[in-house]
Amino acid sequence: MVPILPAIAAMNDEPPRPPRRKRYSGKNPRRFEDKYKEHDPARYGETVAKVIASGKTPAGSHLPILVEECLEALGVRPGMTGVDCTLGYGGHATRILEALMPGGKLIGLDQDPIELTKTEHRLRQAGYGADRFEAVRSNFAGLAKVLAARGSASVDFIFADLGCSSMQFDDPTRGFSFKRPGLLDMRMNPTRGISAAAWLAKVSAQKLAAAFQDHADEPRAESLAAALAGKPFRTTLELATAVRQAVRADEEELDLTVRRVFQAIRIAVNEEFVALDALLRRLPACLNSGGRVAILSFHSGEDRRVKKSLQTGLRDGVFSEISHGVIISSPEERRSNPRSAPAKLRWAVKA
Ligand SMILES: C[S@@+](CC[C@H](N)C(=O)[O-])C[C@H]1O[C@@H](n2cnc3c(N)ncnc32)[C@H](O)[C@@H]1O
Repeated sequence: MVPILPAIAAMNDEPPRPPRRKRYSGKNPRRFEDKYKEHDPARYGETVAKVIASGKTPAGSHLPILVEECLEALGVRPGMTGVDCTLGYGGHATRILEALMPGGKLIGLDQDPIELTKTEHRLRQAGYGADRFEAVRSNFAGLAKVLAARGSASVDFIFADLGCSSMQFDDPTRGFSFKRPGLLDMRMNPTRGISAAAWLAKVSAQKLAAAFQDHADEPRAESLAAALAGKPFRTTLELATAVRQAVRADEEELDLTVRRVFQAIRIAVNEEFVALDALLRRLPACLNSGGRVAILSFHSGEDRRVKKSLQTGLRDGVFSEISHGVIISSPEERRSNPRSAPAKLRWAVKA
């Protein structure tokens, strides 16, 4: 009989070795997926703090913008019930939850099923049970339905921090960034609709020019649309290269043009203005009397809509008060988080 090899038996008793970390070239990891310390802020707090101090957003996270100003605008107090329409990483939600306790409740919506699960887990780990915090995978256009399904038509405050999160922008597999190679997708909810690549392959030059104009105030809307519409772009970098080849301009203007083209296509693919218009229409009905709304927007197309809706609401007596002008980030915040630079905050109080 062949004896059982003692070496194998001994090996089976050994605790499994942790998998070897993938090698990357250079001193620090450069690729999003290799930045394992940044992806694990609970274990590597010091590294994450260094990244933030250098004015960058750690991979896989999002730095909340104008937090104190948003909290003040919303007037959050213990015992209130409210909605964060754009949960993201949960940065604003964490601060709102702290201000709501004891006795309050926050409903957090996000249409991104990938990040929503992670954020819900983080907030549960932070001690917020289902009676204090609920995460709902929903487009905020469906806010009224979400509230009705929970048996309350209106809440004390509603917050929205529009656009994409840093996790979405920075993860190359989501296909949002012109700086990183990835399949050209750009959907915040990748289980719905069509990718940016599929949208571009079938869009007419006329519709694309309108998107460049309306979504990003692109001055070369028509010539760019003629060069890009109906073309099969597979990756983010293929599209960025095509934009650069279609425009004669200096490096700075080329960068801005690529940025505007990506922004316009992202807004179209996610139907962001359709959702924002629906939210703005339903807002008043979803707020208690004296309830407050605060909205952070990041470009003129968004801010125009928010401004017009709040001003119309004030004129019609739907709102008793709205913010005078916009609240913007301080020079310190812009230095420590450059992504806060374009942010504009507006708020209103329901009559
Ligand atoms: C700027 S981030 C929010 C970041 C968040 N305030 C924080 O502190 O972490 C915007 C988030 O809103 C989500 N979002 C954008 N449009 C949405 C919509 N129409 N409905 C639901 N979620 C949306 C995005 O998926 C993203 O996670």
